Amino acid sequence: MTSEKLFVEPGIRLSAREWTRGLSASGRVALVSESGAWRRFGSGVEKSLKRAGFKVHRHLLPSGEAAKSWDAVAELIGSMLAAGLGRDCAIVALGGGSVTDAAGFAASIYQRGIPWVTVPTTLLGQLDSGLGGKTGINMAGGKNLAGTFHRPRAVVCDPDVLRTLPARERVSGLGEALKYGLVFEPALWSLIAGRWDELMAGDPVLTARVVERSAAWKRKIVDSDEHETKGPRELLNFGHTLGHALESAAGLGVLRHGEAVIWGMRAALRLSHRCSGLKASFASEADRFLSTLPVPLPRRIEPRRLLELARRDKKARGGRARFVLLRAPGKPVTAFVSDREILKAVREIL
Ligand SMILES: NC(=O)c1ccc[n+]([C@@H]2O[C@H](COP(=O)([O-])OP(=O)(O)OC[C@H]3O[C@@H](n4cnc5c(N)ncnc54)[C@H](O)[C@@H]3O)[C@@H](O)[C@H]2O)c1
Ligand SMILES: [Zn+2]
Repeated sequence: MTSEKLFVEPGIRLSAREWTRGLSASGRVALVSESGAWRRFGSGVEKSLKRAGFKVHRHLLPSGEAAKSWDAVAELIGSMLAAGLGRDCAIVALGGGSVTDAAGFAASIYQRGIPWVTVPTTLLGQLDSGLGGKTGINMAGGKNLAGTFHRPRAVVCDPDVLRTLPARERVSGLGEALKYGLVFEPALWSLIAGRWDELMAGDPVLTARVVERSAAWKRKIVDSDEHETKGPRELLNFGHTLGHALESAAGLGVLRHGEAVIWGMRAALRLSHRCSGLKASFASEADRFLSTLPVPLPRRIEPRRLLELARRDKKARGGRARFVLLRAPGKPVTAFVSDREILKAVREIL
């Protein structure tokens, strides 16, 4: 499959003609969103789609993780069928990662698959979850347990929509961006760490730069390993083995995804120093910066529970936990890590 076209430009959400070229033969689209994103940006995007000549079917999913359920996806598909949308229509997903994950899943199965475009409205969505084509919903057993790979045709990142983003969502997005810096582009890490306050204040030019760089890395890695079978895509999981463990152990929705990744990266930096040769000076300097970020720590998390969850991570082999670690900034490796080392790192950060 070809990679998504990436647009990063103020006001671009209102230029649908540019990002919908060749999208739908019938000229019909389902504009899928949730109330928070819809209230702020829905009518602007809808008008722009209409100006570009589309007939728009509007559908709102429930907000947050509730969008990522069978029921919500079935309702969306039902409403598209009732509106008479055929295989020659397309979906435009407007919202955070919850909307794009669920709407993308619907796009991948609607009449065996239709094209789609994402217009991510959270920072995490613009630089990570809105591209790459992983779609999915949650099941009783955990997050993202049913889903598909279905890449969007385009990702439309409008820095203007991030103005209304709460501080916590901004930290979450920047947490993920810091990962791209550590794993692939140390200069990006330095940019974010050095100009953190400006980024938190919403500086549009800086924010656009961070979105562009991170999204470009994500697209490049996904292009080389679309279905996560060859290796490179695993590298996107730096900080995620224990990050996901903490996210689940805290209870769904308690920690934002990027917040959990920040904790996970603190542990991964320690493990990188002990198990893959990352210099102590860099590991401790990076950890010191991460430790100053405003990230809540859920109480009463049992280190052994995190170990158990890390062993069940999809990178694990034969019950042994495997981590993405750093040999140096920008030089990732994967390595098996012993239970003792994991427990030690977890106890140090909790
Ligand atoms: N597919 C992937 O590759 C991938 C990668 C990482 C995360 N994810 C998924 O993304 C989801 C999390 O997405 P998220 O962090 O974007 O959160 P979200 O979609 O749950 O949105 C969080 C909240 O922000 C509000 N919101 C959205 N845009 C806003 C704006 N511009 N201003 C003010 N409020 C706004 C929404 O109304 C919602 O209440 C998780 O389900 C996670 O599993 C997917
Ligand atoms: Zn992530």
